[in-house]
Amino acid sequence: MIAKKEKINILDVAKKAGVSPATVSRVLNKTARVSPELTKRVLSAVNELNYVPDPFAHGMRTKRTKSIGLIISDITNPFFPELARGVEDYVSSAGYSLILCNTDAKRDNEKRYVNLLLNKGIDGLMFTSLRIGEDVIHSLLTEGVPCVLVGRKPENIKELVYVVTDNYKGGCIAGEYLFRLGHKKFAHVSGPLDNSAGRERLAGFLDTLKRYKVKEKDIAIINSDFTMEGGYKSADDILKLDPLPSAIFFANDAMAIGALQRFWEERINIPEIFSIIGFDNIKISGLVAPPLTTISQEIYNIGQLSARELIKIIEGEKGEPIVLEPKLVERRSCRCID
Ligand code: RIB
Repeated sequence: MIAKKEKINILDVAKKAGVSPATVSRVLNKTARVSPELTKRVLSAVNELNYVPDPFAHGMRTKRTKSIGLIISDITNPFFPELARGVEDYVSSAGYSLILCNTDAKRDNEKRYVNLLLNKGIDGLMFTSLRIGEDVIHSLLTEGVPCVLVGRKPENIKELVYVVTDNYKGGCIAGEYLFRLGHKKFAHVSGPLDNSAGRERLAGFLDTLKRYKVKEKDIAIINSDFTMEGGYKSADDILKLDPLPSAIFFANDAMAIGALQRFWEERINIPEIFSIIGFDNIKISGLVAPPLTTISQEIYNIGQLSARELIKIIEGEKGEPIVLEPKLVERRSCRCID
């Protein structure tokens, strides 16, 4: 069988020239000055690879594939299937198909899938992480590829449309709730701090506790990764803290559920020993024992709104950034301290 030749795209040129995709884009579109040395490298990579910029990328394509790529970081986190469902329901009702790619939040996987989807002539891309690098997304936008960021806020790309929950506010609500239950010693199991959701949940939590004059020494921070396995392992780190906290805010429900499992193995009663609060309100959070108190995101709706904004952009309208409100959902995993 003869392998079909993949179409060369901007990422291939950038790799060959040893520069960022944004630099390739600047050279080809003459949108900013690039040094003669880099210009030369880019142009010779373009020649060697016979790269012809995709007319689609310049908004001149007339024939669409009516397909959208959703790049998610962790299919094992129940947050993402619910989100993907929202995306799919919306795109299919608008006559589009969805291609789902799981990257394990790894930059190389994200790049590989973006390449693949571009080669398939995808109409637009939805990202749930920025591991691929803001420079790459920036150059995709410059090339005219419609993109939406889901559940994260971009740091430097003003023109990137995003749909997100107010993560800072969610962290504040968690801090306020645990403080008002009378807790004095706290722990936070964070998500990855290279993403805005992880950082903002932590910042909201810390700022709130500081506002209530809780001392730094009474707030332990354990860095984790938004996975159930990460949460499971973090439970051991919590058990090593001296003094032990009585209240723990997990940056998502998957981690809180992983930790519940570990505490259960150690016969540690929740909420008697630790009050636990999560973030997301994934469906199984109401089914675990004890049912998890959490900060709720409108997960399905985030998917729908992200799809709506992306299709607007594909169809030539302007997309809008959207920020949704987090809400406290009280169940049985926290208790009052007397
Ligand atoms: O990356 C996973 C996490 O980010 C989810 O659990 C959800 O909290 C999202 O914002």
